Amino acid sequence: MSNSNPVYPVIWHDDRVLLIDQTRLPQEYTVVEIRHYEDMAAAIKTMIVRGAPAIGVAAAYGMYLGARAIAATDRQQFLSELETVAETLRQTRPTAVNLFWAIARMLKTARGTLGSVDHLKAVLLETAQTIQAEDLQTCRAIGEHGLNALPKTPEKLRLLTHCNAGALATAGYGTALGVVRSAWIAGRLERLYADETRPRLQGAKLTAWECVQEGIPVTVIAEGMAAHCMNRGMVDAVVVGADRIAANGDTANKIGTYQVAIAARAHGIPFFVAAPFSTVDFELASGREIPIEERDPVELYQIGTTRLTPERGVDYYNPAFDVTPASLIAAIVTERGAIAPGELAQWRGVQAG
Ligand code: MRU
Repeated sequence: MSNSNPVYPVIWHDDRVLLIDQTRLPQEYTVVEIRHYEDMAAAIKTMIVRGAPAIGVAAAYGMYLGARAIAATDRQQFLSELETVAETLRQTRPTAVNLFWAIARMLKTARGTLGSVDHLKAVLLETAQTIQAEDLQTCRAIGEHGLNALPKTPEKLRLLTHCNAGALATAGYGTALGVVRSAWIAGRLERLYADETRPRLQGAKLTAWECVQEGIPVTVIAEGMAAHCMNRGMVDAVVVGADRIAANGDTANKIGTYQVAIAARAHGIPFFVAAPFSTVDFELASGREIPIEERDPVELYQIGTTRLTPERGVDYYNPAFDVTPASLIAAIVTERGAIAPGELAQWRGVQAG
């Protein structure tokens, strides 16, 4: 059923990281070479690499690239300089908790590893590779659990997704799009509706591109059309990814997700969130506490080189994420299974990764 090679947005090869440049897809498939942690930080900020789990994987490699450039052989000096690397990477994007989770895991590994600085560096590379490999496995498990959680009827489902939570947004396979993939492979997918996802158009550009790679039937719609499609009986379930899930199940995802969830509830359509367990931030009691990134207004007033709005006299507000309340979510699908948002609390204290 699949007619393409798998997509891996982050690849470790020949002592450097290769990133698929997601700002150029689908027009151009290009790969950017990253050898320095500052360049990795820039790649995350400018969204050459994007999507919560992929950002986590990229940041882990960024930590290694920073570590290997540290000249100090004294352990304490090395760890102190590594903290500077971590801080630079933390400053890239505030919402996806996977970034902070991966950096913290790399720091914990460095602090907890005995031996020479050279040995520490080698262990950090292994840890980044492990984080990447685990994410791929996690996505496959999410795909399976998500498939089991989907409505049993009709046999062939029409699913709707928002943004891109696919292979490009993870180590590979995807979370929400992983569920879609698993449904497709199992013969349970009729069609995917992909919200175009203003303003960065991840749905139109990236989700559509991934579907085309695998022959998955995809219809791109503007997110303003989602409620209409639901009203016309064209959608059986919604599956989206997540950037951060608070302890009560409130979920931050790409701006526009919330209104899709409201529309789904109004039409009695189940709304699923698919994400690795590491996306749950038990430090935050509710979605109110999730930091929401605001990006440059140029994303709103310009597409490519075309200006959309009057040159002067207009103000802009460009939050990159919104929070869907737990009450609108049928289930959160992680690698541990699909659970109601209210059941998340029982996992508090069980560490991810
Ligand atoms: O701004 P982006 O493109 O990084 O936002 C991506 C999303 O909102 C995804 O839905 C989310 O990160 C989950 S990716 C598996």
